[in-house]
Amino acid sequence: MKIAQRVSYKRASPPLDIGLRVKEIKAEGGFVIDFGVGEPDFETPDDIKEAGIEAIKGGFTRYPPTAGFSDLRLAICRKLKEENGLDYVPEQVVVTCGAKHALYNIFQVLCEPGDEVIIPSPYWMSYPHMVRFAGATPVIIHTTVRSGFKLTARQFEEAITSKTRAVIINSPSNPTGAVYSRDELMRIAEIAVSRQIYIVSDEIYEKLVYDGLNYCSVAALGEEAYDFTITVNGFSKSHAMTGWRIGYLAAPREIAQAVTFLQGNSTSGACSISQKAAIAALKTDKKELKYMVNEFSRRRDYMVAELNKMEKISWLKPSGAFYVFCDISRSGLGSVDFSRQLFEQYRVAVFPGVVFGWDSHIRISFANSMDNIREGLSYIRNFLQGL
Ligand SMILES: Cc1ncc(COP(=O)(O)O)c(C=O)c1O
Repeated sequence: MKIAQRVSYKRASPPLDIGLRVKEIKAEGGFVIDFGVGEPDFETPDDIKEAGIEAIKGGFTRYPPTAGFSDLRLAICRKLKEENGLDYVPEQVVVTCGAKHALYNIFQVLCEPGDEVIIPSPYWMSYPHMVRFAGATPVIIHTTVRSGFKLTARQFEEAITSKTRAVIINSPSNPTGAVYSRDELMRIAEIAVSRQIYIVSDEIYEKLVYDGLNYCSVAALGEEAYDFTITVNGFSKSHAMTGWRIGYLAAPREIAQAVTFLQGNSTSGACSISQKAAIAALKTDKKELKYMVNEFSRRRDYMVAELNKMEKISWLKPSGAFYVFCDISRSGLGSVDFSRQLFEQYRVAVFPGVVFGWDSHIRISFANSMDNIREGLSYIRNFLQGL
């Protein structure tokens, strides 16, 4: 069958078969330790769930406004002001079906065919696809371990051409957990502003930073940076709400208007019930969220301490998100073979780095119980010893 080129499956990531097997085994009640997960293992807090139930009972079951309920957009503006130091008005905010949808919309409204979007690698695997869906070309820039997997100002400058339309900054990063400092962001923002390039700042892991690090939003760096930044965020990771599908973007008015037009003629407004739950999320008791972050931090510390005892594997300690990106090149295996063999021998699933543009690495998620982490890591140690 002829399928349109823009969704050509040949480009799709190859190793998703492990993910499918994990789901099947879990459904059958079989044994598997899933270090591939990309979502918190915590429940959505009760007050947020209640708000969803109340929304149904209260009749919020009809089409919501395309850009989102005004009370939610206002609450998002307040959050951005209080927590990120950003001045947005509701007309600049569009609520979307997850942050993923916000990102998709952004490239659709920013890019013409032939435009280029700079993507630092390792990258979240959906970025290049989304850029291609918009007819633009992803320009992948390989970062280094030395720079902490972060795009340097120099690399950025060298990658810019007359076709460059945007750069994606994802801090904290999936898959590396790298967090950009204010200075690092400032250097990138200065270049972007001087070359009139948009910074798409994916801040979905913003709340998950460790060691008392200060989080810095790109748009907070100054007036000019603000004008060239599109801030993307959501509730999936910060409030354990992956299934509710609520994200948002905050942008210059014209971009927000264009996204609203696109959204009005594609998905319409995001789920009305989830939007009401998201309002509750912004008011939720911060203690519960703090507990989640502390717990992730404890698991991260345990995971890196255990990995430290193993041979043929090295990593950089992540400062944020819930992944450790491990160099497995000394194992002699590529990331797909490593992941497949580990899964076949021990039923431990990890994500092969090739999907993030780094075949020398695997991604291990610590969004898992301590018991699973303990047991899974012992299998990884046995696996490495057996190679
Ligand atoms: C870096 C990054 N951005 C965006 C998303 C999308 O999140 P959402 O569930 O809000 O669509 C994810 C989800 O895994 C992610 O890892």
